[in-house]
Amino acid sequence: MVKLNGKKRLKVSVFISGRGTNLKSLINFSKTKNSQISINLVISNKKNAKGLFFAKKNKIKYLVINYKNKKNAENRILVELKKYNIDFICLAGFMKILSKKIISKYKNKILNIHPSLLPKYKGLDTHKRVILNKEKFTGCTVHIVTSKLDSGKIILQRKIKILKNDSEKSLSKRLLKIENQIYPRAVRKFAIANL
Ligand code: GRF
Repeated sequence: MVKLNGKKRLKVSVFISGRGTNLKSLINFSKTKNSQISINLVISNKKNAKGLFFAKKNKIKYLVINYKNKKNAENRILVELKKYNIDFICLAGFMKILSKKIISKYKNKILNIHPSLLPKYKGLDTHKRVILNKEKFTGCTVHIVTSKLDSGKIILQRKIKILKNDSEKSLSKRLLKIENQIYPRAVRKFAIANL
């Protein structure tokens, strides 16, 4: 917890592996006057992750953690999270599965955004699968991370229609905009409940 302009804010670490549009929208939210969070640490398992640009641009401390040895990587992550007094974690396109150790240390304190209407379509290639299955709707979900993949309590979910001519690409592009909207909203809801 940190106090900014007399208001309490929870300290957040965002984990990424790539592009970082959700990181960007979370940073923008954290910079708003009445935000309940401050982003103090960005962690990437990829040194070339495009999203690191947003951390640099906003002068947010970032770390690249090599995942060649998962155990060492996670031990380092735990040390850093403690060092920065991180209250909760947002996974934003982080392509590694966290072990039980981190999940239990940060029980109910890790959020993730997933591009489907969970509990449907857990795992990868969600857009491809919904199109193949001729679904009428898809969506995105912000949920709490548990040791069961894409299965924790849902914080916020948004549904969109799949259009006749949608391809994997058009669908993911349209949905990403919605993801970028709901992640900060879910984080706000979560932070208010945890402040
Ligand atoms: C998003 O589609 C998110 O739902 C999934 O990974 C993607 C990350 O995108 N978990 P970005 O790096 O935030 O742009």
